[in-house]
Amino acid sequence: MAGQCIVGLQWGDEAKGKLVDLLTPDVEFVVRYQGGANAGHTVVVGSEKYVLHLIPSGILYPHVKNIIGSGVVINPVTLIDEIDRLENRGISVTDRLLLSNRAHVVFPWHVAEDKLWEESNQPDDEEKIGTTQRGIGPCYRDKVGRRFAIRLGDMLQPDFRSKLNRIVEFKQRLITATGSDSVVLDANMIYEQYLAIAERLRPMIVDTTEILLNAVEQDRSILYEGAQGALLDVDHGTFPYVTSSNSSGVGVAAGAGVPLRAVSKMIGVLKSYSTRVGGGPFPTELDNPTGQLIRDRGNEYGSTTGRPRRCGWFDAVAARYTTRLSGVDTIALMMLDVLSTLPELHLCTHYELDGEMIRVFPSHVNDLRRVQPVFETLEGWREEITEVRRFDDLPPQAIDYVRRISELLDRPIEFISVGPERAQTILCRLETPVG
Ligand code: GDP
Ligand code: IMO
Ligand code: MG
Repeated sequence: MAGQCIVGLQWGDEAKGKLVDLLTPDVEFVVRYQGGANAGHTVVVGSEKYVLHLIPSGILYPHVKNIIGSGVVINPVTLIDEIDRLENRGISVTDRLLLSNRAHVVFPWHVAEDKLWEESNQPDDEEKIGTTQRGIGPCYRDKVGRRFAIRLGDMLQPDFRSKLNRIVEFKQRLITATGSDSVVLDANMIYEQYLAIAERLRPMIVDTTEILLNAVEQDRSILYEGAQGALLDVDHGTFPYVTSSNSSGVGVAAGAGVPLRAVSKMIGVLKSYSTRVGGGPFPTELDNPTGQLIRDRGNEYGSTTGRPRRCGWFDAVAARYTTRLSGVDTIALMMLDVLSTLPELHLCTHYELDGEMIRVFPSHVNDLRRVQPVFETLEGWREEITEVRRFDDLPPQAIDYVRRISELLDRPIEFISVGPERAQTILCRLETPVG
């Protein structure tokens, strides 16, 4: 399988990092293609835990080339910090990492704008997006707007300083006009800091699109690592409570710079329940002790911001939508162990909207706010399952739960995860029939 993609099908944090690390031994390239340091992908190896924000989750394996593609927005300060932390832990990064010269750069004004817009006055009845405040939205906005954008390759051009000066002058006026005098942008300081980092990164800054096109043409094995999840996709998610990139399966070709047909297998990653961090509608949310139990058992606190994640039942209406949208071939069902001990499990199979039962995921956030989830109740299982390695050894109730999800999504389940470690995985390629 030359081109595989791993994509989150909920609101992020589906345990994509664990799955990427698991599949990395068999590939030559791992490619991040959208998002930025808003992502937090966790890989656990024995007693070591690595949380990766910008660096692809294939980095722990020496044979792999890790690529940050053109569709990612890179904060060079965060990236250097991440490289240094890994190198201090004995992971060699600089010889395994390549950065697209087309990737856009996150500057301090993007972070300042992100914070200002989040904190700005808004009507009481309007829910905040609750961004990670990493400057992601403002950086993508400048990319699309073009005039105030700087790409990684621009930092190595002779006109970097003049470009930066012009942008800082404008951004300072913009930020001051919003009534904030606390943000002072010092063009000289930013220039010195970013130039020094660019010099350090210089050997890694290359035309990754050309490298990937060659790799695709030579049929080399590539694993594309999605960030966030399909319900946070800027075009197809729960807008405006989304991130600023195409985080569903539709984003991979544009973000990596490869033809659509380069991806021959799409693996959709789902938690066995739902979580969301930040604002926005969440039909199956459990704002009660059961939600808290899931949060405690799943340690559902943000990998990037530490915020408690909102928890709820598995939503098959939303997951069916994102499975179809992302062109998913097989499913990885993660964190099944978290549901152990719950006496009953609820699966949302439909929504009720204005007295009608629907299975179509509403395209407008106001409708999504009004839906009532319709649940199917399944029996839970009492025993812990973190040591189970074969599908048939799962408790019968867990088997029924997994089969029902497969049926509702009309896709085979290829992986079941029962704990954060590599070994805590059940490969069930042939064992779980479709539907
Ligand atoms: P990502 O952003 O999709 O990579 O996911 P995160 O890393 O933000 O969140 C997933 C969390 O769940 C991490 O702390 C993982 O170590 C952990 N994890 C991964 N798989 C499992 C699992 O099957 N069971 C449990 N209990 N935890 C898991
Ligand atoms: P990974 O890759 C979960 C959410 C934020 C907020 C919204 C917009 O670890 O799954 P942004 O900073 O992107 O403008 O915030 O998107 N968000 C994530 N939620 N996991 C992520 O990444 C996320 N990245 C952004 O909480 O609701
Ligand atoms: Mg995460």
